[in-house]
Amino acid sequence: MTQAEKLQLVFGYFSTDAKWQSGGTKRFAFPQGGLPDSAGFVPGIPRLGIPNQWETDAGVGVATQRSPTPRERTALPSGLATAATFNPDIAFAGGAMIGNEARLSGFNVQLAGGMDLLREPRNGRNFEYSGEDPLLAGVITGNEIKGIQSNHIVSTMKHYAFNAQETNRNTMDHKIGEQAAMQSDLLAFQIAYEIGSPGSVMCAYNRVNGHYSCENSWLLTDVLKTDWGFKGYVMSDWGATHSTVAAANSGLDQESGWAFDESPYFHDALKEAVNNGYVSQARLDDMAHRVLWAMFDKGLIDDPVKGDVANTIDFAGHGRITQSDSEESIVLLKNEKGLLPLTRTAKTITVIGGHADKGVLSGGGSSQVYPIGGLAVPDEFPGGFPGPKAFYPSSPLKGLSARLPAKITYVDGKDIKAAVKAARGSDIVIVFATQWTGESLDTPDLNLPDGQDALISAIAKANGHTVVVLETGGPVVMPWLSKVGAVLESWYPGTSGGEAIARVLTGEVNPSGHLPATFPASVSQLPRPVIDGDPKLDGDSHPHTDYDVEGAAIGYKWFDLKGLKPLFPFGYGLSYSQFTLSQLTAKPSGRSLSVAFDISNTSATEGKEVAQIYVSPVSGGWEAPKRLGGFIKVNLKPKEKAHLNLTVDPRLLATFDGVSKSWKISAGDYKVMLGSSSDSLGSTVTVHLDAQTLDIKGQ
Ligand code: BGC
Repeated sequence: MTQAEKLQLVFGYFSTDAKWQSGGTKRFAFPQGGLPDSAGFVPGIPRLGIPNQWETDAGVGVATQRSPTPRERTALPSGLATAATFNPDIAFAGGAMIGNEARLSGFNVQLAGGMDLLREPRNGRNFEYSGEDPLLAGVITGNEIKGIQSNHIVSTMKHYAFNAQETNRNTMDHKIGEQAAMQSDLLAFQIAYEIGSPGSVMCAYNRVNGHYSCENSWLLTDVLKTDWGFKGYVMSDWGATHSTVAAANSGLDQESGWAFDESPYFHDALKEAVNNGYVSQARLDDMAHRVLWAMFDKGLIDDPVKGDVANTIDFAGHGRITQSDSEESIVLLKNEKGLLPLTRTAKTITVIGGHADKGVLSGGGSSQVYPIGGLAVPDEFPGGFPGPKAFYPSSPLKGLSARLPAKITYVDGKDIKAAVKAARGSDIVIVFATQWTGESLDTPDLNLPDGQDALISAIAKANGHTVVVLETGGPVVMPWLSKVGAVLESWYPGTSGGEAIARVLTGEVNPSGHLPATFPASVSQLPRPVIDGDPKLDGDSHPHTDYDVEGAAIGYKWFDLKGLKPLFPFGYGLSYSQFTLSQLTAKPSGRSLSVAFDISNTSATEGKEVAQIYVSPVSGGWEAPKRLGGFIKVNLKPKEKAHLNLTVDPRLLATFDGVSKSWKISAGDYKVMLGSSSDSLGSTVTVHLDAQTLDIKGQ
């Protein structure tokens, strides 16, 4: 390859006509060969048979940048919803489906695999990620990546690392010690990397321990490439490259989305830097080699994309895939007085709010997928990015009307008095409450916006048979919880979400989602009751967050450590069936611990349960009293019983030692606990483990 060809591979363009460029002079031109209104483009080298890299967002489907003519595609439920399925097969199937749509839309790089751990429930991008636990997030995201790449395209894993809030995301400096980092977010990324083998890793906007993620040699070169053995390439987030020499020498391999950065750092400046010896020729060769390695390894060369053939997409089949993801992700949080499933004897049902007559909500920002048939509701967010506030045309109301004989009336909920009046005379009331979140904006608190808490309280006071269906980006508080009969968390349920919600409400589908994140009782319980940084300041500011406050004790671990009672614990979720867990045994096996137990469906209703194993050292020494050590989701017919086995990843029994770069299991007794959430643990057994040292990969 010529020097010019190598340089060409490491410089990416924004593939949208960036008219928003400030200053009047357009310094950026739409790249020839790019696909319109998409995230990125890197020209290929026809002389060598190397195709273009056509990059599209994101983790729930093929997104389009804000445009009057978006491509219309299938959207999965939010990433957090898929994590709530606790089902790696569902994550794989969803990934395979969106990767197929990416491929048939002409893209060969999908900017998916979002998985920063949920340290901050107000983070506006939690919906793109996989929750608070490293094992769950790693397994779910790893399987999604594997599914995407089964289409012979590259998937990223992002945003590496610690991009857990949007406030001041471009400048925020997160301080975290090595052990805490390795036992939390980096463990999640490591597990996802091992399962999914992403061709590319996208470094984040924020700084970590004083250095931008995209020029952080500890994260990029030491941990990712040297310790884990990552052979693919690191691409920057759009606008996350800040230098030429520091970034290249720290491990950034490809600058993305030129137009967002202050300067085209990996263009002429990189050529100069190599000429002058500030960046070695060997390093440039390595950068180009890594990009090519991923393209060859993931099949982009042997099985090239064939352009935009979206008219061949099997939208009906894909609708079934997103619907089953949503159906398994919906979490039944409360169900009293036998309110759910809805009875066929109810004569009148009032559905209130959330545009439930038209559709279901989705999360905003670069990951926005536009649905077939267009948005169900005119945009209610006139402020530009991360809008539009997009509702997908899959109406829960229509889904209910098709299934129930009751007379169902819809009231929009904007006028509380009118809603209360409609609710009063009805056999059952279902309130749909929405919380729109989006990239670049954190939520101010955990309350439902726009007076919806007051609306629900008023409705519940007027009618004792009130069901609340939540469509939220992440955890919310529920000041009205004791007054309502039933609550379903449906997240952002995707382009077939209305059907999924209707099927769960009517009992056609038995709910089986479990919470992938703790729902706090209030923000005062969080490590940071107030988010660090000032949303009004960015650019030149250098705000800090001390992630060592909680370290690796994220979510339920923090709540355990501090003895706090959340509103709903991690792992929690009800079913229309009843299950019992019993006969727990655990024994050391090889470098790990193997666990066996029985699970029975004691009810007359077929259903799925998520059995969870937690591990805890009797003499302490971890970041928190216990960790999730494993989980299995199983479907059981009425009265069916199953015997299940699982093995605990030894890293989840160890602490990381930075000096020897190894994982160390301390000799001692360990409690192994079995349950259906992090705070309902029935059986416990104690196992003695000998001291062990495992290498950096946990082997
Ligand atoms: C986001 C990335 C995304 C990129 C390209 C950025 O704003 O942080 O997640 O992949 O844009 O659209």
